[in-house]
Amino acid sequence: MYEPWRIKIVEPISITTPSQRQQALQRVAYNLFDLRADEVTIDLLSDSGTGALSAAQLAAGMTGDETYAGSRSFYHFYGTAAELTGYKHVLPTHQGRAAERILFSVLLEAGDIVLSNTHFDTTRANAELAGAEARDLPCPEARNLDSEEPFKGNIDLAALRLTLEGAEGARVAAVVMTITNNGAGGQPVSMENLRRTAELCRQHAVPMILDAARFAENSWLVTRREAAYHNRTPRQVAEEAFRLADGCIMSAKKDGLVHIGGFIGLNDRDLAQKCERLLIATEGFSTYGGLAGRDLDMMAQGLREVTEPSYLEERAGIAAYLAERVREAGVDIVEPAGMHALYLNAGRLFPHIPPHQYPGHALACQLYQQGGIRSAELGSLYLGEEDEHGNPVKSAPYELVRLALPRRVYTRSHYDHVAATLEQVVKAAASVHGYRIVDQSPILRHFSIKLQPVTTP
Ligand code: F0G
Repeated sequence: MYEPWRIKIVEPISITTPSQRQQALQRVAYNLFDLRADEVTIDLLSDSGTGALSAAQLAAGMTGDETYAGSRSFYHFYGTAAELTGYKHVLPTHQGRAAERILFSVLLEAGDIVLSNTHFDTTRANAELAGAEARDLPCPEARNLDSEEPFKGNIDLAALRLTLEGAEGARVAAVVMTITNNGAGGQPVSMENLRRTAELCRQHAVPMILDAARFAENSWLVTRREAAYHNRTPRQVAEEAFRLADGCIMSAKKDGLVHIGGFIGLNDRDLAQKCERLLIATEGFSTYGGLAGRDLDMMAQGLREVTEPSYLEERAGIAAYLAERVREAGVDIVEPAGMHALYLNAGRLFPHIPPHQYPGHALACQLYQQGGIRSAELGSLYLGEEDEHGNPVKSAPYELVRLALPRRVYTRSHYDHVAATLEQVVKAAASVHGYRIVDQSPILRHFSIKLQPVTTP
């Protein structure tokens, strides 16, 4: 399928030489987060806040109302979000993690447990900052990266039931369902899984909260993969999903189609009031929540556009296209391909590089060095640990690299360049070396880490 839009505004991308990129890599000590945008040709680091706005969104932004309290833009946003989600209380925030922090500060207490299909890192961090334990219960199918099961983003219902009914059940303060499951290969969650989770939560009087960052993509995959939903529109699926939950936290930088924005949606008045108080103290008054009026108007328009079937069909199509080209290049991905990202199996591509020499990071560096492509390692650099002498203590279950696909930004020929670069990397795979850490910080080390190539085994 072709793109259901044409391009009105273009932005040049930087075209660099291999030797410039080699110099850049050395300058940043092989930490791709430290590259400047001008040094990157195709940036697949994140699909968050990196999409293109539509003409209708820009027009909505121009009519944004910057009144401090009670702006027209807030009511445009509120009306759209309340209609989509069905929640009575909708509080804007500047992005997803602000929504997490506010909701969790109010909902959680020290010693509580939050269960999830898989927490995104900031969701986990905010639960832990509130003194709670964030525990992941991904379904067993998620462990097999190659299998074609349609809903590998599901929560493990048996484990959920056991925990809720067991000795720790009374400590469970929330169940967070991340749709789609970014921490587990961008896989979708089925409506059946959401419904059964909601039933268990209701029986145990535990709120079920959607982490809805990619709700429209999840809805599209439901219409394609879940028989009972073949005749529904993505919008209908999304409306039903929100209504199964007691509330949501949303990063609108993904399926809100905006560069900045988010919100909290809730039905519980008391909880919403407590969140509102914290919102006013830390984000902004409850009718702007850290955003400009124009941002609220653009977010409202984005939330309406994102469930358009033609938009979602093309987005799934371009991900499937790149997935096929990547497989042809000889690189395995987490199957089946989702929509917001492809997760490359670097461990399998470089069996000669041990986890503590970071095969995923080696692939990310190769993609940059050879094609100017920036990606994100999701393996032992991100999740592993070493002792003070650098000996490995813990490695990640898989050595992956995420190619995140910004919305409405790159075309097929950009992705052809990604696939061609991967082909080159595969040809010389046996000669690719690993890395060792020369400096790191104790938390979230991947953002600031410094590394060196390991040239001898
Ligand atoms: N939840 C999920 C599932 C996410 O993927 C993200 C962000 C957040 C919450 C936090 O939202 O960034 O607006 O504060 N994910 C980005 C990514 C950063 O690249 O996957 P935020």
